[in-house]
Formats: sequence, structure tokens, C-alpha cells
Amino acid sequence: MERINIYLPQNGYDVHFGENVFEQLLEIINSLNLNSNLFLVIDKNVFELYSNLIDATLNSHKGKTNSLIIEVSEELKSFETLQNIYSSLIANNYTRDTLLVAIGGGIIGDICGFAAATFSRGIEYIQVPTTLLSAVDSSVGGKTGINFGKTKNIIGAFNQPNFVLIDVNFLDTLNNEEMLSGIGEVIKYAYLTNHNFYEYVKNNIDSIYSKDHNVLLEIIKESVRFKGDVVISDEKENGNRKMLNLGHTFAHAFEVETNYKLKHGQAVIVGIASALFLSFKIGFITNQKLEELLELIYLFKSEIKVDNLNSENLISIMQRDKKNRDGKIKFVLLKDVGSILLDVEANNNDITFAIENGTNIFR
Ligand SMILES: NC(=O)c1ccc[n+]([C@@H]2O[C@H](COP(=O)([O-])OP(=O)(O)OC[C@H]3O[C@@H](n4cnc5c(N)ncnc54)[C@H](O)[C@@H]3O)[C@@H](O)[C@H]2O)c1
Repeated sequence: MERINIYLPQNGYDVHFGENVFEQLLEIINSLNLNSNLFLVIDKNVFELYSNLIDATLNSHKGKTNSLIIEVSEELKSFETLQNIYSSLIANNYTRDTLLVAIGGGIIGDICGFAAATFSRGIEYIQVPTTLLSAVDSSVGGKTGINFGKTKNIIGAFNQPNFVLIDVNFLDTLNNEEMLSGIGEVIKYAYLTNHNFYEYVKNNIDSIYSKDHNVLLEIIKESVRFKGDVVISDEKENGNRKMLNLGHTFAHAFEVETNYKLKHGQAVIVGIASALFLSFKIGFITNQKLEELLELIYLFKSEIKVDNLNSENLISIMQRDKKNRDGKIKFVLLKDVGSILLDVEANNNDITFAIENGTNIFR
């Protein structure tokens, strides 16, 4: 099992990852002297697939253990689900000396992180991500929360876990759509990190889809290491951390405008394509560099289909995005792989050019 330390002075932690490592859960809990009153919140689909493994792993636990199995969806990333967790904790007499164990994808991780931040004024929690997206991205960094009204992740807290345990075996049962959702974030890291990782991802897309464990572990390692460094430098997103939104300003608008027909991972890939065209239009990259940087994007031409979208609608959705202030849309753009520009403003003509050309790839 490998380990990456997220070095934060007050609340640092390790991300453990490997093959068949879930069985070491109790060992890690004990080695860190974490609370022995365990409360597990488990994604229903994960429980159905892995209840034997989960039961066997916790079998030898001496302390108190209870589980809550919950269904997930963006609609259920809500106050109701949060209340369900609080109620179950209270009904089972859990107090502050609880360790909440979140086993599932990004939805479970985000809700549990927020439940842990708020129950009894804060309890310990750990993340066991079971999707590619949660392994490479959401389980690390401490952003937690729920959706409210029509706004995603609007209620939440920064709350770092006590540790993260990534067992790549869980990813074996993800369908292609869920894989693509995680691949969207992997593509983002490929552009943000360096040429080596970019080339590695470009040359291994098929192996990622076929869930080659060695390749998956390599991309988990690079993505977590990179995200960890960004979070260490800017935990609360006052500066550097904004780079993790590469492609996401466009992506969010694509998701909303297509009524979420375009899934998050797909939207991120189309969003990064649009961001590359915007970089070109503003003059940060030449036509030759643009073509070079689009090579990775072109690999998804047959995987993603985008209908004709209305640029004006998309721009007004972007203006309302909670990340923007005063209606000014700020973009993360690239000069090259690993060469990142933050807070770039653009005029509507240039944004329209970027949307039209970015989406055109996927007609
Ligand atoms: N906190 C952050 O920094 C951060 C970053 C990115 C995304 N997010 C959030 O993450 C969420 C998306 O997370 P996600 O993509 O993991 O989705 P998810 O949690 O909805 O899981 C996707 C689907 O996969 C199923 N599933 C989970 N593990 C499985 C497994 N091992 N085998 C088979 N099926 C499995 C789930 O039941 C669900 O149907 C969004 O709500 C997003 O806002 C948070």
C-alpha cells in the first residue's frame, strides 16, 4: 500500500491507496488512535456489491459499530439525507466520540464530510472513495456539503478527513458512464500537472476504461499528489486552488443548459476544449499549440455528443455561477500543459467563439 501525506499544519492526513487495501481499515484506525465508535454511511449500490467485504473487514472490531445504507443522487444530496444521518446517529446514541466512515462516491463523501463537520460540533471522519471521481478528486481536499434549492454544493464546510483509504478494487464494478465521469477529472489533472503525466494519460485511455489496476493506481497517485499540493498551498480556495476549476465554468453551464443530459465528466472534457479555444482566441497559445493540446480531447470524439447549444444562454448561466463575483466570468486558462492562468476575464465574442469551437468537436 502506498501513501501520500496532505501536509496541512493543523489538520494534515494521509491518503492510502493500493489493491486489496480495504481490509487494512481497522489497522489504520487503530494506528492513528481514532475513536472506536464507528458509524458507517454506505452507498446502497456499494453495499449491495461489497457487503461481504465490508462485514469481513469490520468483523474483528471491538468497539461499537452501526451502519446506515443510503441511496445517492444529486437530488438526495440534500438536507433530508443529512437529517437521516443525524437522526440515525442520535437514535443509536452516538456522541462526539464517533468516527464516521464514508464508503461510496463523491456524493456520500461530500454529505458525510458535512455531517461530520456539524454533528456534535464536529466528529472524526474518514473517506473510502469507491468511484474514480472520488478517488482522484473529491475525497481529498476537504470540500464537503450538500445541494440546496437548485444550487449545487451551496451549503457546506471545509472539513479535512482523518484519512482517506482508496482500494482500487472497488472501481472494478463501475459502469462506463461512471468511469467517464472520473476520466473528466483525470483529463483535467493531465493538463494541469506536466507533460509526462499528460502523455501517460493520453497513451492509457483504453487501459483506464478496462480498469487496469496498475494504470489506475498511477493516475490516482499523480492526481492525488497534485491536488494535495494545491490544497496545501491554498486550503480555502483564495488563490491557487481555483486552478482545479479548469474547464468547469463552461462545464457547469453545459450541464445546466442540457438539463444534465451531458454528464459532469463529459461536460468537463467539452469545457476544457472550450477553455483551450478561449486561450487561443485571447492570444495565449498559437494555432499549432492549440492543435497539439487538443490531441487528448480528440480521443473522446465518439464518446461524447453535444447538440447545438445557445451561447447566450450559456453565458448568462456562467454569469450566475456562484464562483463569479459581480457577474464577471473568470476563467482558468492554459498557456501549455502545467502553465496555468487564473482569473482571466473575456468578452462575450471570445466566449462565444470558444463555446462554438469547443462543442463543434463533439457534433
Ligand atoms: N468535494 C469535492 O472536492 C468534490 C469534487 C468533485 C466532485 N464532487 C462531488 O462529487 C459528486 C459526484 O461523485 P461521483 O461521481 O463519485 O458520483 P456518486 O457518488 O453519485 O456515484 C456515482 C454512482 O456510482 C455508484 N457507485 C459508487 N461506487 C460504486 C462502485 N464501486 N461500483 C458500482 N457503482 C458504484 C453510486 O451508487 C452512484 O450511482 C458530485 O455531487 C460532486 O459535486 C465533490
